[in-house]
Amino acid sequence: MNIRKLLLRLILPPPVPTRHRLYSMTLPPDVWKSRPNARLISLALRTVARAQQLELRDLAQRAGDAVNAWPGEHYRLVAALVAELGAKRIVEIGTYQGTAALAMLSQLPSDGRITTFDVIPWRQIQPNVLRDTDFADGRLRQEIADLQDFQTLAQYREVFQGADFIFVDAAKDGIMEQRFIENFRRLTLPRRPLVMFDDVREWKMLRIWNEITEPKLDLTSFGHWTGTGWVDWAPTSQ
Ligand SMILES: C[S@@+](CC[C@H](N)C(=O)[O-])C[C@H]1O[C@@H](n2cnc3c(N)ncnc32)[C@H](O)[C@@H]1O
Repeated sequence: MNIRKLLLRLILPPPVPTRHRLYSMTLPPDVWKSRPNARLISLALRTVARAQQLELRDLAQRAGDAVNAWPGEHYRLVAALVAELGAKRIVEIGTYQGTAALAMLSQLPSDGRITTFDVIPWRQIQPNVLRDTDFADGRLRQEIADLQDFQTLAQYREVFQGADFIFVDAAKDGIMEQRFIENFRRLTLPRRPLVMFDDVREWKMLRIWNEITEPKLDLTSFGHWTGTGWVDWAPTSQ
């Protein structure tokens, strides 16, 4: 354990005994840089109702029952969101084991496409839940690219500008997600995608999340326990 974590534990001992935890902070609306709009609120209500009915049975066979632990884990929420948006073009930044990619794929129509980016090819991540057959019909593909670099992201201009839904789930190191946001603004996302950020309650994500000026909604109670944030990437605010 590093000294920072040790000091935190001494100064702020966890009020609940648990192996997993994160320190966070809640902020009042007067410091929020943006607020939820009608689109986000009604989309959230419909998506949550759908997530309640949706069970990821096939995915649970591969990835374990945790994929259906909702709220708490976000897999049912992202699957329900794909269905509710009628999303046909999806971008994920951060494939990792492929669990969220497969959750989204379960609701994708036959003419839909998910492009999932990582800096590490999925085969090199062990264990993972992907199989070659998941890529067979062309709806799912992985690209290896570091999108912090604008020129790299611009090579995928059509993928990003055609997206209905972008799921940002990379390093959460306090820098990377900010770079993605700046790159999205510079590229422009004219289709007004729903952009979902994971881990927005993480200490290192609090500032980045708060600074977003596009309409946004913290949906943590219906998503991932580490924080789930939705942004309506509205063209007027770019
Ligand atoms: C939390 S995991 C993603 C989990 C996945 N979205 C899910 O819900 O199943 C984070 C992933 O982001 C990847 N990553 C780190 N930096 C990245 C970057 N610059 N671009 C794309 N992916 C990156 C890591 O290699 C890792 O596999």
